[in-house]
Amino acid sequence: MSARRASRVYGGAAAAVVLLCAGAWAVAQKADAPSAASAPAAVNATPPAASTDPVLEHGRYLARAGDCVSCHTAPGKPAFGGGLPMKTPFGTIVSTNITPDPEAGIGGYTEAEFARALREGIAKDGHHLYPAMPYPSFARVNDEDMHALFIFFRNGVQPVAQKPPATDLPWPFSMRGLMVGWNWLYLDKGVYQGETARSAEWNRGAYLVQGLGHCGDCHTPRSMLGGVKAASDRKGEVFLSGAVIDGWYAQPLRHTDRPTMAQWSSEDIVQYLQTGRTGHTAAFGAMVDVVQNSTQHLSTQDLQAVASYLQSLGAKAGEPAGPSQASLVAAAPQHPTALALRNGTVEGNSGAMVYLNNCNACHRSDGTGANKTFPALAGNSVVNAKDPTSLIRLVLAGATMPSTAKAPSPITMPDFGWRLTDADVASVLSFARSSWGNQGGAVTAAEVAKVRDSLKPVATAKAP
Ligand code: HEC
Ligand code: HEC
Ligand code: HEC
Repeated sequence: MSARRASRVYGGAAAAVVLLCAGAWAVAQKADAPSAASAPAAVNATPPAASTDPVLEHGRYLARAGDCVSCHTAPGKPAFGGGLPMKTPFGTIVSTNITPDPEAGIGGYTEAEFARALREGIAKDGHHLYPAMPYPSFARVNDEDMHALFIFFRNGVQPVAQKPPATDLPWPFSMRGLMVGWNWLYLDKGVYQGETARSAEWNRGAYLVQGLGHCGDCHTPRSMLGGVKAASDRKGEVFLSGAVIDGWYAQPLRHTDRPTMAQWSSEDIVQYLQTGRTGHTAAFGAMVDVVQNSTQHLSTQDLQAVASYLQSLGAKAGEPAGPSQASLVAAAPQHPTALALRNGTVEGNSGAMVYLNNCNACHRSDGTGANKTFPALAGNSVVNAKDPTSLIRLVLAGATMPSTAKAPSPITMPDFGWRLTDADVASVLSFARSSWGNQGGAVTAAEVAKVRDSLKPVATAKAP
């Protein structure tokens, strides 16, 4: 009882300190991660030799579902060797070596210690991990899968003897004990509990999305203290309702009052997660790594489960979902905007003029793009998104699709930041958001200026 109260007091105190630096622990910007403007480099996650141990192979699969490699591998360095610096508002957190090397890595971990690190964020020696490691999501992983992961990281990964530099956050964040309070607020212990009223497929999808997939780490908004506002659909509408991560807006993965991926067909969702594109859309930004290193490796059956779970979120029984992207694309060629662009009767409409001169060649006058090459802007959830951050950044800095086994060519959208003014970008995006049946709302030059400003360090880092 009193221990519980003490932990509450401590939790509050710690929370207050963290609040001083209001921000998000786990919204870790990967300092050296491939930026969307540069060609994304697939991490070589292939371990030494294929094994015949089905448990180890299952663990390898789960490690992909958890995307361990994206965070625990520095660019150009061996898989799982750690050393990737991740920028947070509190300083830079460096991922650790999780290869089985006994000194530099986690070779000394027992299975129980490994499970505690993944589920509770506590390292072997008892120190608390920062939640840049998604342990609040991994807490959902069941015992059987935890065992397989342990076997894979013990026997299926090449040891790397090099220890990455230690994370050295400034005081007070150097006090890892603060995480006790944070965990008290945000760590929901307990493995995934199935919902008996739902199908096995739905439960499988929920398990993957809430657990290893840690989709909510990017797609769910965070509180001032950097914890996700809802860790599952049971915690309400805010779960997977969209959030800005690493300078991109990660769209809602549920039904909302605007077009989202929840209205796509299951085939499209599976295809997107497998190849990074559909006939009408394509992945960019932080989602590129996720597709390349994680979801493309999942079985079609598991991706179908993910799709059916996501499609159920926010769905209103008896109410038709909004118009699908497919139906808006089908209607777009007859839309007045398409006719005006084709007939050249857009004089005086600055957004349409910018579009004709810069975007039309690829995205077409009817906004339907080209199958799996240039996304359709009509009915696109990115174009209609409430938050235009991704849209602005795409136009200013360009983007490159993931390269996957099933769709290897990483097609690039060029950057226009060097030739279009803030006003130009605002007008072309306002135009795209109100054409071909879209209802995205206007974008202002001030919003563009803000994103342009945030991209400045990226631009200097890119300079030769
Ligand atoms: C979003 C980034 C991210 C992902 C994904 C991620 N980790 Fe981590 N992990 C980290 C960071 C950062 C640390 C170090 C945190 C610290 O030092 O406080 C860490 C620490 C750890 C540790 C503690 C090691 C030690 O002794 O310091 C283990 C074990 C671990 N991760 C395993 C995994 C496994 C297994 C997966 C995949 C199932 C995974 N991680 C996925 C970021 C990540
Ligand atoms: C050379 C061809 C080309 C031109 C010109 C071009 N784009 Fe793109 N656009 C692409 C490609 C390729 C992608 C996919 C990029 C990715 O996923 O990384 C894309 C993606 C997009 C997306 C995101 C759609 C989605 O589903 O991911 C939007 C919005 C967009 N472009 C708007 C524009 C606007 C506005 C212009 C003009 C200022 C423009 N594009 C000019 C090729 C082009
Ligand atoms: C590291 C952050 C991150 C994680 C983790 C992540 N996503 Fe994303 N995701 C993004 C961003 C950013 C976008 C927006 C860019 C885009 O549309 O390609 C996005 C876009 C998407 C889209 C396209 C939505 C649309 O409307 O076009 C889907 C589908 C998606 N994510 C599914 C998932 C699933 C399923 C998971 C978990 C298995 C997941 N994401 C995990 C960052 C992330």
